[in-house]
Amino acid sequence: MGKDSLTVTDNRTGKSYELPIEDGTIRGMDLRQIKTGPEDFGLMSYDPAFMNTASCKSRISFIDGDKGILRYRGYPIEQLAERSTYLETAYLLVKGELPKPSHLAAFTTNITHHTIIHENIKLFIDGFHYDAHPMGILVSTVGALSTFYPEAKKIFDPESRRIQTHRLIAKMPTMAAFAYRHSIGMPYAYPDNDLSYTGNFLNMLFKMTELKYQPNPALERALDVLFILHADHEQNCSTNAMRSVGSSQVDPYSATAAATAALYGPLHGGANEAVIRMLMEIGSVDRIPDYITRVKAGEVRLMGFGHRVYKNYDPRAKIIKEVADEVFEVTGRSALLDIALELERIALADDYFISHKLYPNVDFYSGIIYQAMGFPMDMFPVLFAIPRTAGWVAQWSEMLLDEDQKIARPRQIYLGPDERDYVPVSERGD
Ligand code: SDX
Repeated sequence: MGKDSLTVTDNRTGKSYELPIEDGTIRGMDLRQIKTGPEDFGLMSYDPAFMNTASCKSRISFIDGDKGILRYRGYPIEQLAERSTYLETAYLLVKGELPKPSHLAAFTTNITHHTIIHENIKLFIDGFHYDAHPMGILVSTVGALSTFYPEAKKIFDPESRRIQTHRLIAKMPTMAAFAYRHSIGMPYAYPDNDLSYTGNFLNMLFKMTELKYQPNPALERALDVLFILHADHEQNCSTNAMRSVGSSQVDPYSATAAATAALYGPLHGGANEAVIRMLMEIGSVDRIPDYITRVKAGEVRLMGFGHRVYKNYDPRAKIIKEVADEVFEVTGRSALLDIALELERIALADDYFISHKLYPNVDFYSGIIYQAMGFPMDMFPVLFAIPRTAGWVAQWSEMLLDEDQKIARPRQIYLGPDERDYVPVSERGD
């Protein structure tokens, strides 16, 4: 193979340029030298939605979209889902290596002892309308944490980053559970340090009058696996928001609020809620063909299908389907599952979906499981935000320590009006 470079000829000037190829990319800034004359700003690349742009170098997640591969720090997601726990996976994402037993114990203790939130936070959760969407509460509450921990602004202090990382991973479930309890008019259930990360989350959500909540082990484990599967995923929309907002050197709580807001969208983390609404709208297996017709007509999207990177089956969807069976053994089978399975069977055999490379993604089955576990639909994106927090803070730290990075500030192609003079309103006529 020849030299790692690209030779381009600018046909406007006949001049040729050699651009180095590094890690399968050329540097956008290497295009700037391509000019028609000294007054020319130079070439830029135009890539709306970053369809073909690497915004960073990362060592955290790796996806091969064609082969349906996902690895966290090199470990296949299938092995982590089967053999790890969410907290161990969170440590792996943040630290880069699987923890030694003593390190895992210390990390678990740190997270466990940061689950309580300041009592004042309850006051503004109480201020939300009873039917406020819990993602709206979560975006606001995690942003507000920046006012309780002003030292979080010391983003280049490793000890401050370490403590804020623990606080974010530890407190997201508490804030999420408090938002849920507020929405059903129930008193807040405080953390129980005797329980696991997911066991305690179930405790804060579902504890009633019993003195000590006992999580169902099968549901506790199923939720832990779901959290592992949702923990990180390269430069997805919300991680891009975390990095972009974090690049202004704001504190991690404010950056996490931005990431949570991005995840709220129905094309991203809100898709699991949209899948359930879609399955309920379809209503029965015999009405699937009509819905598929509407999808092909471009009237609606098949929520839970498709992915920017996976052009094959999302490996997480395969694992979630297995988790579903374990959950339904406890909760009973969901009526929506039959519609989902038939929808998948039809779609995977249909040329439209095959040609558009549309396969089930992580959101297609997760919502059915959450519903069977007793979560209301508007909590589903919250169940995505909680585990993704480990990925967000890991990517945030990596961005801060990357010498290639600086404040994110894209350029644009200006198509607006040329210079023109102001006209007083009295002279504008009607
Ligand atoms: C997540 O980035 C990540 O990694 C995200 C995530 C993570 O872990 O962080 O994996 C989590 O967000 C999963 C995706 C959840 N979203 C959904 O399930 C919503 C439904 N899916 C989509 O809207 C869509 O597939 C996206 C948003 C996921 C990806 O969209 P792209 O890559 O921008 O593709 P596109 O919208 O340009 O669509 C390409 C074509 C279009 O058809 P044409 O205009 O070319 O004819 O495919 C069609 C689209 O109409 N298409 C769909 C479709 N998704 C794409 N048609 C019907 N149903 C769909 N779901």
